[in-house]
Amino acid sequence: MAARILSRWLPPVLADAARALRDAMGTSEWHVAPDGFTRTPRGAGWEDESIVATQAARWAAYVQRTAGTGPLGFSGESESDAPQDDVAHNSAMVFAYTLARASHGRERMALLDWGGGLGQYGVLARALMPEVEIDYHCRDLAHLAARGRTLLAGATFHDDDTCLARRYDLVLASSSLQYHEDWRGALAKLAAATEGFLLVTRMPVTLSAPGYVVVQRPHRHGYMTEYPGWVLDRDELISAGGALGLVLQREFLIGERPRIPGAPSPCEYRGFLWRAERVAGA
Ligand SMILES: C[S@@+](CC[C@H](N)C(=O)[O-])C[C@H]1O[C@@H](n2cnc3c(N)ncnc32)[C@H](O)[C@@H]1O
Repeated sequence: MAARILSRWLPPVLADAARALRDAMGTSEWHVAPDGFTRTPRGAGWEDESIVATQAARWAAYVQRTAGTGPLGFSGESESDAPQDDVAHNSAMVFAYTLARASHGRERMALLDWGGGLGQYGVLARALMPEVEIDYHCRDLAHLAARGRTLLAGATFHDDDTCLARRYDLVLASSSLQYHEDWRGALAKLAAATEGFLLVTRMPVTLSAPGYVVVQRPHRHGYMTEYPGWVLDRDELISAGGALGLVLQREFLIGERPRIPGAPSPCEYRGFLWRAERVAGA
């Protein structure tokens, strides 16, 4: 909170100096992980209790802000009084476009949100697509799924991969594929679970350069832990989708560009919407 307020008021030159000092002191949010996923992170990673506590504390405000007609420039991770932000708005509109494609001509659709936390995209889906009945499934770790069940009625929460045994009209992985060391294996499982579309979004990528692993310490979001994740080579991700029989429909800019001290190449977040080739007319 203090850092957010300071960053809004500090002149750019002082903000840059503060960032350089954080980098020099090793207290930056992002670090390159030369040993890849093998380094044990401090804390419990995504199992950390502070994650579910933070998200649950922001849930009511998120539901309230999502209802109505205002712009969707916030996420489930935004503080309730956070100003509207373009990155969150891009992410919401990417999802809106995807829902429109996946539900075209339908009254009902099945959606799997893989790494979906408490089910925030389920709330967003209902707000964005009120004409369509959405059979919303959310897969996450056990503690998040358990809390999600208490918060979002009419949804199905999964804490294991049995949810991948059936097929969905849309499979969504928003800022979740990167946390899987075997991202190709995970992508293949997601591709096999869709009979319509697969959206991998809020995905950290680097352009025309080899991917690398980073560790994020997301303390400013209220998550008092750290976890490793990929910054994937964008071209490699697109070819991996193609090799799985997915046809790229649209690539999206998200607008998030974390500064990663010492990174071999710049990182930015993008989205990729694929359609499964077995769909007639694809
Ligand atoms: C950055 S959050 C993204 C949450 C949400 N999809 C969004 O875009 O706002 C990453 C999510 O992936 C989940 N996750 C990480 N590793 C996972 C695993 N092995 N199995 C299932 N979910 C996992 C985390 O618990 C967390 O909810």
